[in-house]
Amino acid sequence: MFDAIASRYELVNKLMTFGLDARWRRRAVSDLRLPVASVVLDVAAGTGDFTRELARQGHFAVATDLSYGMLHAGRDVRERVQANAAMLPFRSAGFDGVTCGYALRNFTDLQGTLDEMSRVLRPGGRLSLLEVAEPRSGLWRAGFRLWFRRVVPFIGSLLSDRAAYHYLPQSTAYLPESDEIVRMLNRAGFSAVNHRRVMGGLNQQFLATRSA
Ligand SMILES: C[S@@+](CC[C@H](N)C(=O)[O-])C[C@H]1O[C@@H](n2cnc3c(N)ncnc32)[C@H](O)[C@@H]1O
Repeated sequence: MFDAIASRYELVNKLMTFGLDARWRRRAVSDLRLPVASVVLDVAAGTGDFTRELARQGHFAVATDLSYGMLHAGRDVRERVQANAAMLPFRSAGFDGVTCGYALRNFTDLQGTLDEMSRVLRPGGRLSLLEVAEPRSGLWRAGFRLWFRRVVPFIGSLLSDRAAYHYLPQSTAYLPESDEIVRMLNRAGFSAVNHRRVMGGLNQQFLATRSA
């Protein structure tokens, strides 16, 4: 499915978020609080929006994704590795940081994937995950549902693949509650796990440190 939408993925993303995703990604990367020139793995990197932000902030970034089409469509991403996030082909403790944007709901084995993110991070390494969320307050939530469940599939079917953009908003149903994700991160070997809602709850971010 991601191969099919790769060529227009970034365009539809920008329209869906009014370009605000760039700001959310920038913050998610700077929240890693890693020194410049750290080595960071961007898991489920897609076309590399996060990977490029990592490079802009001075890090050495490696993109990995299951979809060859998404990796191939990415511009200005030098290090690209096609792989399943639940079986990462990297040695243990080799990265200073891991990022993952908008993919938690797409992993069929979320716990196994978080375990792998933990394994490839050095002790003290930092993790930053960004994902969509549903706002809690009534009007904001109603507006979000209208936009995400009606307008996004409409834009997606005009510009890209109809079936994919019907599935993608619905895929939030596969996302565990944030408390459960925090527990999964603890089980995977992370400490100081922090969850915060972004922009009235349109997005959510998880920050964590790989335990020693
Ligand atoms: C919604 S896109 C997010 C892409 C990018 N991180 C971003 O911020 O725009 C989800 C990505 O997850 C990838 N993906 C889904 N399951 C995966 C898996 N098991 N291993 C690696 N990548 C996976 C898809 O190929 C797709 O590129």
